[in-house]
Amino acid sequence: MKNIAVLVSGGGTNLQAIIDAQNNGIIKSGKVVLVISNNKNAYALTRAENVGIATKIILKKDCVDTYDFEAKIIEALENANIDLIVLAGFMSILSERFTSHFENRILNVHPSLIPSFCGDGFYGLKVHEAALEKGVKVTGATVHFVNEITDGGKIIMQKAVEVKDDDTPETLQKRVMQEAEWIILPKAIEKVASEM
Ligand code: GAR
Repeated sequence: MKNIAVLVSGGGTNLQAIIDAQNNGIIKSGKVVLVISNNKNAYALTRAENVGIATKIILKKDCVDTYDFEAKIIEALENANIDLIVLAGFMSILSERFTSHFENRILNVHPSLIPSFCGDGFYGLKVHEAALEKGVKVTGATVHFVNEITDGGKIIMQKAVEVKDDDTPETLQKRVMQEAEWIILPKAIEKVASEM
């Protein structure tokens, strides 16, 4: 059993999908033992507490600089003997120092088919706004390893989702989550944990 940490910033629907996948046996090679948030109001924290998963809040404003912020996250991960780190709506870019420390041990879910609509500045609703602006008819989600290039690590899994003519960024975000993110993130976690 691999020890998994999930890093979050917001609502935590992807964290919920991971918790549900543990309960229904889709994830069986690892277990979420720690949730770290960089936002004290993240509903993801409540989701973790509801099922007895340890939580830790690490705020940038309480840190001297990014180096210190990442050092505090690394310390929390090492104290919990974490094998695999999952970024599930974690809205902070991690430096090369962090990513190289955990090479091939950090996964991220991104709400587009990489290499479209990804990289610096493309996060959350902005991704779906850009997809609608461009007029693509198919979008989706990607789970990939995290390296020093934003959204640039090796792709593990992708799933396509249809864009509808009357979509708003919000309706498209919801469909991409339901039809892609919540499905491929647990599967990718199981794949990577089982091969570690
Ligand atoms: C998800 O759509 C996730 O793919 C996206 O933020 C949302 C978080 O929702 N992540 C990124 O844009 C990262 N670049 P959640 O908190 O409900 O899981």
